[in-house]
Amino acid sequence: MSEKNDLSLKELLDKLTIKEKVGQLLQIAPFLFIKDLKVEVAGHVRNLKLDEEKIFCAGSVLGIGSPKEMIAVQKKYLAKSRHKIPLLFMADVIHGYKSIFPVPIALASSFNPKMAEITARISAVEASSCGINVTFSPMVDLSRDPRWGRVMEGFGEDPYLISKMGKAMVKGYMGDGLDKSNSLASCVKHFAGYGAAIAGRDYNTVDLSRLALYSEYLPPYKAAIDAGARLIMTAFNTIDGVPSTVNSFLLRTILRDKWHCNAVTISDFDSLRQIITHGVAKDTEEVAYKGITNGLDIEMASSTYANHLEDLINRSLVDIKLLDEAVLRILDLKKDLGLFDNPYKGVDEIEDNNILTKDNLNKTLETAYESMVLLENDGVLPLNKNVKIALIGPYATSRSIIGPWSWHGSRDTHKCLEEVLRDNLVFCKDEEDVSKYTESDLEKIKQADVVILAIGEPDWLSGEAHSRTDITIPNNQDRLLTISKELGIPSVVLLFNGRPLIIDSIKSSNALLECWFLGSESSTAIKDVLFGKINPSGKLPMTFPRSVGQIPIYYNHLNTGRPYLGENDHNQYVSKYLDSPNTPLYSFGYGLSYCKFEYSNLQLTKNTMNPKESITASVEVKNNSDYAGYEVVQLYIKDHFARISRPVKELKNFKKIHFLANEKKIIDFIISIKDLTYITETDNEVYDSGSFSVMIGGSSDHTLIKDLELVKELS
Ligand code: BGC
Repeated sequence: MSEKNDLSLKELLDKLTIKEKVGQLLQIAPFLFIKDLKVEVAGHVRNLKLDEEKIFCAGSVLGIGSPKEMIAVQKKYLAKSRHKIPLLFMADVIHGYKSIFPVPIALASSFNPKMAEITARISAVEASSCGINVTFSPMVDLSRDPRWGRVMEGFGEDPYLISKMGKAMVKGYMGDGLDKSNSLASCVKHFAGYGAAIAGRDYNTVDLSRLALYSEYLPPYKAAIDAGARLIMTAFNTIDGVPSTVNSFLLRTILRDKWHCNAVTISDFDSLRQIITHGVAKDTEEVAYKGITNGLDIEMASSTYANHLEDLINRSLVDIKLLDEAVLRILDLKKDLGLFDNPYKGVDEIEDNNILTKDNLNKTLETAYESMVLLENDGVLPLNKNVKIALIGPYATSRSIIGPWSWHGSRDTHKCLEEVLRDNLVFCKDEEDVSKYTESDLEKIKQADVVILAIGEPDWLSGEAHSRTDITIPNNQDRLLTISKELGIPSVVLLFNGRPLIIDSIKSSNALLECWFLGSESSTAIKDVLFGKINPSGKLPMTFPRSVGQIPIYYNHLNTGRPYLGENDHNQYVSKYLDSPNTPLYSFGYGLSYCKFEYSNLQLTKNTMNPKESITASVEVKNNSDYAGYEVVQLYIKDHFARISRPVKELKNFKKIHFLANEKKIIDFIISIKDLTYITETDNEVYDSGSFSVMIGGSSDHTLIKDLELVKELS
């Protein structure tokens, strides 16, 4: 039984020595607690300069392999610890624990926050029963650069969509309350601006204007905090030259003073010590000083606090109040998670009971259905049930389809495409090099009604530290398309990837399905879409450029003083390229369906409004097809004249609506002053009277438009 049962957290804090308090700020790997420090992990311990006493004062653990390991670590720790303050176990549960959901960029394509919440809930149930208390998720870093490998782990380029998805994930992890045995606390990351790494090179410098930071990059972190995220992880990058991990503007001014947020701050892996390499501290003592004084609570995977804070406090160089505040936040989190009452929370329930259940796997399937984006289709899809298929390309037989950041997911047990399509296959070859297809292969392919190309990036090409400058499909796999073209057989491309790729070379296929990495039930989900059991409904959460030269390219850009007005604009001195259109290959919000949706009759209940009013925008959407399906109806707004230049359009709302075959519906959006308000470079929320455009459509580049005038309130 821990001391907490009899003491308030403040009383408990007062009983701790400085060393014990400092320990709460240390996060280290689990093996340090259970391996022989002198023999098995001597090198690692030497690097961290931690002795056994310091290790057994640590407050939290990074990563845990199994419930058994968690129990062993906690047990040994509590046996040695003076006050029996339980360890907090944190890990990266990004898109599922063992039941793996689509990667976040795919999940964002669903435009279905409710679905995101369900995925997080199931992840929490599975992970908590394996001893995890905190997940380092969601990652809400806005990114406009697909060269950055971590776009896979985020929700794309739009602050509104990212905020919606992030918020839903936080709620899902928490479930009915942090103290419940099946809940996880959420650590939102990476604060701040990590997705803006220059040239898309991971960990690179970030240089953002205050306007971009306040109005586009910070709101998703704020949304996650407001939804209940209890921790916030700092980013590897600098903001205004100061590493985020020791950036008091971020950690104090924004987080504590402006947002009144009491979340525990935590460094990224070794990012505190790395401020030496950034060149803002000369040694580990200065690192520790800068960390605590600028607002960093937990130090992940380095040990400058453990090795210097006590001394800095004893020498009155650091005020102990700073340490106390940080420790109290951590103790408070442990209390709210119910760890003082049960340090083995979650794992005392029968292992595997909640894991990889039929229901969980069904949910991964349903999520995968909604996460695919149909980019092209000339009518070849859906396939008829007796179709003869030639399946070619590396993903024909690959089981590496669950995606990066799925530590506990199994790459071996899930079915590959060849297995699920077997009944229709007349040929299957997983070779990516077109020259390896022999005459006899071609003879067999000729028997097919359709050639399906399963191609893309291997899953290890995206994720952390996996930036690329050439984001075409690797190893010329796109040349496989020549096989179907030369044989005159229709082609369907299934694209696997963790980022928008340059795919103009496969655009001419008869159908192109963006599959991303769809998780445990990838292959079945794809099959069901191919055969029309499921009608695809995903929309792109990130722009697909025509070429790397267009990056960064995103839909919500400013107009410029010399915008290019399109093909009939012959003015030379306008903002355009000499060798490429300005427009992307596929825009944010784009995605086809087997339905044919037609938008008409956009109406506003009033075309003027004052700040106290709200109006309703409505549009008629008709499904001109014999298929039932979902459409994501998107509302964008443009503010024409304001005190600062405003984006050409911004997503303000969306609704995912089901339509029966040939059904027509009127879809409504309420527009209030919050939709006409924006954030300035001084972080003020303001609006300006004048003209706006209200746009509704099925994609950011395809909308109906109506004028709206915001008038001053009558006094
Ligand atoms: C990543 C974080 C992750 C942490 C712990 C870091 O390298 O940037 O996103 O949560 O490792 O695994």
